[in-house]
Amino acid sequence: MAKRSRRKLRARAIDAVPPSEPPMRPGIIGLSRTVPGTIAKPPYAESGDPGPSVTSPVRTADEIAAMRNTGAVAAEVLMIAGESVRPGITTDEIDAVVHEATLNRGAYPSPLNYRGFRKSVCTSVNEVICHGIPDDRPLDDGDIINIDVTVFKDGVHGDNSCMFVVGETDEHSQKLVNETYVAMMAGIKTVRNGSKVNDIGRAIERHARSHNLGVVREFIGHGVGTEFHTSLQIPHYYDPRANQEIRTGMSFTVEPMLTLGDPSLYLWEDEWTALTQDGRRSAQFEHTLIATDDGFELMTVTSDGSFAAQMYDGVAVG
Ligand code: MF3
Ligand code: CO
Ligand code: CO
Repeated sequence: MAKRSRRKLRARAIDAVPPSEPPMRPGIIGLSRTVPGTIAKPPYAESGDPGPSVTSPVRTADEIAAMRNTGAVAAEVLMIAGESVRPGITTDEIDAVVHEATLNRGAYPSPLNYRGFRKSVCTSVNEVICHGIPDDRPLDDGDIINIDVTVFKDGVHGDNSCMFVVGETDEHSQKLVNETYVAMMAGIKTVRNGSKVNDIGRAIERHARSHNLGVVREFIGHGVGTEFHTSLQIPHYYDPRANQEIRTGMSFTVEPMLTLGDPSLYLWEDEWTALTQDGRRSAQFEHTLIATDDGFELMTVTSDGSFAAQMYDGVAVG
């Protein structure tokens, strides 16, 4: 009985948020951008097939040093991409910005031909949850966009993403964006040698629930290092089976996707673009980090410690 009335309350809160208008539609996708032969490419760059994951969840000291550098490049490129966000810019133009900024730093844009992905970055607008393919759609005032930048340099990947608001947006969307950042950080802050993988999802889910936001279950954080995605899985919800202990030197992403409504999703025919079924908006942030003896170290920060999502540090929560 108590259960049923709680569900009613929750349903009412969701109904108060309208679907995003106008709905997102597939656009025209331009040609893949080219990478000069002087840039070192990851093994899948030619075939599109990364093969099975074979690497350990723990990085060597040399790999961690490389990940600091590569992570800083990923953070810089994401900030540059964010500065390009304005009404009228197309997501393909953002792809060009990311591609050029990545090559200029001697790095390879990891999404390019990863499992056949045709562009150099993922751009996910409004009700697109993740893996949006840059196309000819211009950004509109009030849109929210996730830009997900991954770069490969010195044999390792750095993977990070951030939400950007185009001009000003509505109250629901702004709250979604702010609280998704807080949820990511709540998950990250559980990490230390000896903590459990599912402490991360527990903290994220608790924060999402306290703001009546949904948590996407189909896409999860992942181990990252010499491989873009290792077999280590980081759910963003509480999964009792994800009780693996986190150890110093483990490297992975935390990248929760939170929704204003039901987090159920579907894919476009491109087999990449994931959207909410109910058309309500979704937000995501992502960092690559390494677990340490007493906490964590963010890899996706510049050498002076800055990163795009810093603008959400200290956002009013409540
Ligand atoms: N960067 C995404 C992640 O966070 C993966 C994108 S795969 C791509 O894991 F092929 F779409 F680029
Ligand atoms: Co990732
Ligand atoms: Co990513």
